[in-house]
Amino acid sequence: MYNSRIVGLGKYLPDNIVTNNDLAEKMDTSDAWIQERTGIKERRHIVKGQGDTTASMGVAAARIAIKRAGLQPQDIDMILFATLSPDYYFPGSGVIVQELLDIPTCPAMDIRNQCSGFVYGLATADQFIKSGMYKNVLVIGSENHSGGLDFTTRGRGVSVIFGDGAGAAVLTREEDNKKGVLSSHLHSEGKFAEELSLIGPSTNRWVPEILEANDPEDVSYYPYMNGQLVFKNAVVRFSEVIMEGLTQNNLGPDAIDMLVPHQANLRISQFVQKKFGLTDDQVYNNIQRYGNTTAGSIPIALTEAWEEGKIKSGDLVVLAAFGSGFTWGSSIIRW
Ligand SMILES: CC(C)(COP(=O)(O)OP(=O)(O)OC[C@H]1O[C@@H](n2cnc3c(N)ncnc32)[C@H](O)[C@@H]1OP(=O)(O)O)[C@@H](O)C(=O)NCCC(=O)NCCS
Repeated sequence: MYNSRIVGLGKYLPDNIVTNNDLAEKMDTSDAWIQERTGIKERRHIVKGQGDTTASMGVAAARIAIKRAGLQPQDIDMILFATLSPDYYFPGSGVIVQELLDIPTCPAMDIRNQCSGFVYGLATADQFIKSGMYKNVLVIGSENHSGGLDFTTRGRGVSVIFGDGAGAAVLTREEDNKKGVLSSHLHSEGKFAEELSLIGPSTNRWVPEILEANDPEDVSYYPYMNGQLVFKNAVVRFSEVIMEGLTQNNLGPDAIDMLVPHQANLRISQFVQKKFGLTDDQVYNNIQRYGNTTAGSIPIALTEAWEEGKIKSGDLVVLAAFGSGFTWGSSIIRW
């Protein structure tokens, strides 16, 4: 059995910065409200028609990650693409990445686990590498949220939180089983499926049905979030799944060198930081600049932490995520 190790990281954010005050021009909200409740100051939004898509942003991040890994796109044995906002309803965006990277053919699989998508992707990559089936696996998390949010006052509880962007990681085979991904921990609880969801259009609520109903109150084609329920579950599940990972590796919270939480809400990260007694330097947050980029959030944050020299060889890096499904998970990594 092999281990897997991250050998290249990359990120891509659209140039277009949207501040809280920009949003306040479109809806009844304020910079103070958004910062106090979420920590977000600004986020990036794609400018439609200028070339950025969920897949293209993923490709931009992937090219950087592949180069930093010292590889060529043709060395990639498998693509795992995590998103809730794919370019098309079908096929998934992984195949578009394979084509744009000019990889003749390779397996490409989309992962539908929303904010936990990158952690699920990393765990899947790790298993394919551990089994010996593939050597180099590219994991991408990318979102184009702005294309599908309600920027009127009706949608303010959701639309101020989410931003666009992509991150990518290249994992490769590692012979030393004390290095790389030590363990992954994944969970779901489908009884909360509709508490953070986009119900229509879907095969249960197809476009003609929505159009025929012609109900101005029916906004099932926009995301719905029960914010307080999500918050309450998130703080519990983040803490549990981090502890689960540490315990499996006979480690305690004091072993953590860097925690990279999914950037859901600064208050959630601060709660987890306090719970585990971590310092500001041991928890990486960038939600202030990018908002919640769902599947993109952990790989973007991990890339920035690495670029800033905050992750060094030998460090214990913990990734943790929670989101729609509900799904949650953690990765325990010896860098
Ligand atoms: C979304 C969230 C910030 C809302 O904060 P909250 O303190 O729970 O606020 P509430 O939803 O109770 O709303 C409080 C009031 O603010 C209003 N409000 C909601 N969004 C607003 C906005 N953007 N600007 C101004 N007011 C807003 C509500 O309408 C409500 O008004 P009312 O009291 O007159 O009815 C918070 O619930 C949260 O962070 N949840 C977790 C979300 C998350 O992490 N999602 C990603 C999961 S991966």
